[in-house]
Amino acid sequence: MLPNKVNIIEVGARDGLQNEKSVTLADKVRLIDRLSLSGLSHIEAGSFVSPKWVPQMADSAQVFASIQQQADIVYSALTPNLAGLERAIASGVKQVAIFGSASESFSQKNINCSISESLERFESVIALAKQHNIAVRGYLSCTMVCPYEGIIEPKQTASIAKQLFAMGCYEISLGDTVGKGTPNRVSAMLEELLTQLPKEALAMHFHDTYGQALANIYQGLLMGISTIDSAVAGLGGCPYAKGASGNVATEDVLYLCDNLGIETGVDLEAINLAGWEICRALDKQPVSKVALAMGDCRV
Ligand code: HMG
Ligand code: MG
Repeated sequence: MLPNKVNIIEVGARDGLQNEKSVTLADKVRLIDRLSLSGLSHIEAGSFVSPKWVPQMADSAQVFASIQQQADIVYSALTPNLAGLERAIASGVKQVAIFGSASESFSQKNINCSISESLERFESVIALAKQHNIAVRGYLSCTMVCPYEGIIEPKQTASIAKQLFAMGCYEISLGDTVGKGTPNRVSAMLEELLTQLPKEALAMHFHDTYGQALANIYQGLLMGISTIDSAVAGLGGCPYAKGASGNVATEDVLYLCDNLGIETGVDLEAINLAGWEICRALDKQPVSKVALAMGDCRV
């Protein structure tokens, strides 16, 4: 049965812009401020990772200092280690996300350590976050397919997800990092996960490289998952997953949910406006089919 309501986590300003060569601070701030007017309740606004690894996110402290934060919106950031969390705390960030992988090779490529080393590292991040009353979300990449190892077994994904949850992540966001998942794989993964974790603790973070993200989300909705990560205009990708395209577009998720009678609390027109605006700044067209169909409705 489909849920009546879903929670949309907007990741375009992080997952989207981490993959763009040059975006000005002003354009990032304008995007987040626009998104803040759309009814979203959670916007991932930046990433306190090593600027040597992802220079696109080097100005996240300035982003947090410059955006007009609304009281009813969570503005979160990625923090891979204690150094990242300390920078996030100094910027007044109230919620962070750690990010691990279900695949050993991707863990090495993305965060330069093994899965078990990453879990050890996350223990201290979670402990310090707790001391500061900062909630921690957990991403798990390559939950179905890894760009280096191929198919990842549902049992492997479930085992790491369970550990992240037990360590104190309030939610595990299941990344289809390369967008090679299909509904049968989503179903097999969730079947395994739902024997070990409550459905309320799971979120879908599906990239759309092979055009399967909406079908995969629909499968997840049918299985009771009601938190969806999406990126305005379909921006994004991971610098360490070559060839992977953006997350499912927020516009496409909203169109689907609106027409399924599922409440999102988010205004499609406002997201479309924000998407076209950032795409003009990036000198590209939105990837979102819905945005292209609706057209650029600048005010
Ligand atoms: P490392 O090189 O092993 O770290 O990187 P290190 O501790 O040896 O430090 C090396 C240097 O980086 C030192 O500086 C540190 O101070 C500095 P130096 O002494 O050489 O001048 N450093 C930092 N600086 C600022 N902030 C920090 C920080 N940490 C170290 N937080 C590390 C390990 C994890 C830091 C690195 O691998 C990294 O930053 N990786 C991030 C990669 C990334 O951001 N990937 C994209 C996000 S994940 C994603 O997109 C997937 C997701 O969307 C889900 C999905 O789709 O699957 C979430
Ligand atoms: Mg991602």
